[in-house]
Amino acid sequence: MSEYVREITEEQIQELCEKAVRMRARSYVPYSHFRVGAALLGEDGKIYTGCNIENAAFTPTICAERTAIFKAVSEGTTKFAAIAIAGGTENGPLQYCSPCGVCRQVMQEFCPPDFPIYLAKSGTDYRKYTLKTLLPDGFGGKNLK
Ligand code: THU
Repeated sequence: MSEYVREITEEQIQELCEKAVRMRARSYVPYSHFRVGAALLGEDGKIYTGCNIENAAFTPTICAERTAIFKAVSEGTTKFAAIAIAGGTENGPLQYCSPCGVCRQVMQEFCPPDFPIYLAKSGTDYRKYTLKTLLPDGFGGKNLK
């Protein structure tokens, strides 16, 4: 895993945040009615989007973040520069929606400690975190050596 996180511009952050907000429209949320969208910037410069997809059996539900990450990995991209996440209830305002523990763990598999995570309400209204602040001392491949 590379420690290098490529510099991203203010325009790229805005584009990621806007895409995350727009992806909420694709979420499939008949049970929680909580819509989440994600936009993930690969180090190749490509943006991979995702939304949460729920299931009547509940546990097969996948979060927006993991949808985006697994789409990217399945297409051959395993290094990432940033992710934006936008979430909120179907009829309510957007929140600064923080990724769940499972998604943080999946990010740790592919992303460096300084990986930027933008919790977005719009293209210009967002809060920036890093993976290491949201998942300090996480379990990783290094533990298995
Ligand atoms: N969810 C996400 O997609 N990402 C998050 O960061 C938090 C939770 C989804 C899972 C489920 O479909 C709904 O939000 C309520 O938990």
